[in-house]
Amino acid sequence: MDKNEIINLDIIDNGMNFEGIARLDNKVVFVPYAIKGEKVKAKIVKNTNNYLLAEIEEITKKSKYRKQDICKHFDGCGGCVGMHIDYAKTLDMKKEIVKNVLKKQGLDSDLVNEIYGMGTPYNYRNKVQYPVRRMKNKNVMGMFSEKSHKLIEVTDCSIQDKEINDVAKYMFECICNKNIQGYNEEKHIGDIKNIMVRKGINTGEILCIFVCANKDIVNSKQMLEVCNMLKYKYSNIKGIVANINDKKTNVILGNKNIVLYGEDRIKEKIGEKTYYISTNSFFQVNTIMAEILFSVLKDKLKLKKEENLLELYSGVGTIGIFLSDLVKEVYGAEIVQDAVEMAKKNVKLNNIKNTKYILGDASIEIEKLRNKGKHFDIIVVDPPRKGLDTKGIETILSLKPKKIGYVSCNPATLARDLSILSKEYTIKSVDLFDLFPWTKHVEVVTTLELK
Ligand SMILES: C[S@@+](CC[C@H](N)C(=O)[O-])C[C@H]1O[C@@H](n2cnc3c(N)ncnc32)[C@H](O)[C@@H]1O
Repeated sequence: MDKNEIINLDIIDNGMNFEGIARLDNKVVFVPYAIKGEKVKAKIVKNTNNYLLAEIEEITKKSKYRKQDICKHFDGCGGCVGMHIDYAKTLDMKKEIVKNVLKKQGLDSDLVNEIYGMGTPYNYRNKVQYPVRRMKNKNVMGMFSEKSHKLIEVTDCSIQDKEINDVAKYMFECICNKNIQGYNEEKHIGDIKNIMVRKGINTGEILCIFVCANKDIVNSKQMLEVCNMLKYKYSNIKGIVANINDKKTNVILGNKNIVLYGEDRIKEKIGEKTYYISTNSFFQVNTIMAEILFSVLKDKLKLKKEENLLELYSGVGTIGIFLSDLVKEVYGAEIVQDAVEMAKKNVKLNNIKNTKYILGDASIEIEKLRNKGKHFDIIVVDPPRKGLDTKGIETILSLKPKKIGYVSCNPATLARDLSILSKEYTIKSVDLFDLFPWTKHVEVVTTLELK
């Protein structure tokens, strides 16, 4: 099979990245943008010992789930996947992915409930980070195209909150007007690397962040004028921050923040609780769906006022604080110092008296708590993509909480961990949430009860 050869393919499945999958002479063929059930003529662009990669030339039989993507940037921008597929179908596909990984671990896939999707799966993100680059003597703001470092101009990302897009565009317009230069990666020169905007969707508060490659721009007259223009146009801007990132690195944010106007943080509300969001702090990017997820978790855990709850991987305390009124006591453990400090501020902000956050590795902190003789009726975990580690699981099992709530952003590691936990726990429910429409990601909440 030669490169550039045109082949006819039947698309038999879709993969984890929504790519079409076909078979040819016992080899797997990956066909981006093809949908299960379609027939395509495709050009081979890569031939390895294990698989072929082919690009669609013509769709000879179209899937009924194929739709016109509504985002003008989808073709080229690397931000989203699956915008050519009917939204309800993408939800089914995500559900299938979770069922399959559970089956692979010998778990009961019938436990998977319907996925909670969004009524309007657009303009949901409460945070944007647009790179700004100097190209051909002009500033460009946009997104890096899929699997490359080429910046393409993006002005109206359709998954961002509309006002966030407007503010980001205006921030860009202001720096261009004041002759502030975008970053040149090759020469490592220029003033601004990124424009970032965070918004409290339920409070309307906005935080503007300029990620600066050049420290000197921070106190310049031009920057002062930019801040004045922004304040004047948007009265809901609560803070403007310069984040200093003068290193040659792909990491977006540096560690140092200088407040140029107002506060270094904004507030967001989830349910009855209010949370601070700052430049560097982790916060769920889809406020609406996060509230639904936390509410379902709350209902499924059936909390009682006399119970103690431990929250591992607690971030800024979002889940523990959300659940704190319903239990006797909440302990949280989190490894990032800034996040723990923010969690403590969030506890105060909500005038909560029964919740404590500890700085440290989840597996080590839980062991220390056990050694001190602490008992927990409920343990809620929300680990990063790599899931729980062996030591953490062993300690959870030795503490024998009555109930476990597992919030996961990676079904594969969730299934791996559930296969161990389920030896001593019964899986009671598996609920899915589309926190990130038009991406391959799905959030899963599992509740377990001690056998
Ligand atoms: C998916 S986030 C969950 C945050 C929080 N539950 C929320 O909804 O905002 C995972 C968190 O785990 C933290 N983390 C990563 N590794 C950790 C470890 N070994 N021990 C404790 N926390 C860790 C990260 O800093 C991050 O805040």
